[in-house]
Amino acid sequence: MILPVASLLPPALIESCRQLASDDSLFVDGRSTAGWHAKRLKHNLQARPSAPVATLMKQLMATISGHELIQAAARPKHIIRLLLSRYDEGMHYGNHVDDAIMDGQRTDLSFTIFLSDPDSYDGGELVIDEPAAERPFKLAAGALLLYPSNTLHQVMPVTRGQRLVLVGWIRSLIREPAQRELLFDLERSIAQVRSAGDQADTLALLLKTRSNLLRMWADD
Ligand code: NI
Repeated sequence: MILPVASLLPPALIESCRQLASDDSLFVDGRSTAGWHAKRLKHNLQARPSAPVATLMKQLMATISGHELIQAAARPKHIIRLLLSRYDEGMHYGNHVDDAIMDGQRTDLSFTIFLSDPDSYDGGELVIDEPAAERPFKLAAGALLLYPSNTLHQVMPVTRGQRLVLVGWIRSLIREPAQRELLFDLERSIAQVRSAGDQADTLALLLKTRSNLLRMWADD
């Protein structure tokens, strides 16, 4: 399941990221965190660990993991890593799959949060390889795209302007994508029944089912 989440970041957090991104001294070659294969494909810049970056990343992690839709769709146990990446003109990231294990944890879901206005740069689409076709994504500033970590994907060359994004990985409590999707559907049904009101018994049974599926499937 590929899920876009609109307006995940408030404007103030987008602005803080952009301000950091304007300081070249905070950035290093993105190849520093890539595996041996990805090193040959990766051409971007990444914010290196530093106090201002760490403070902002902590705030961002809380916003992302606390978001209702992320909770329902990803069931995050941890956000494993969060990186601020910058693609200046000519930069790109060739077709690759993300590392299965990062910092000792399995990566189940990957996400990209777009921070630049789509009109401010050309190229730079995130292209995800699906069985039927390749799908390009270029979302509004502040929107997040959640996708399975087991896909091949690439970032097309930026031909004008600058593409600023946050990229991260989630270790989910639910390992199996099909089970995660079923819980997501159930969560949405619960929300619909709750907003309709006056169906207390149905709601109680749905909540019981959610609880017991989580108990059966949670890989904690
Ligand atoms: Ni990737």
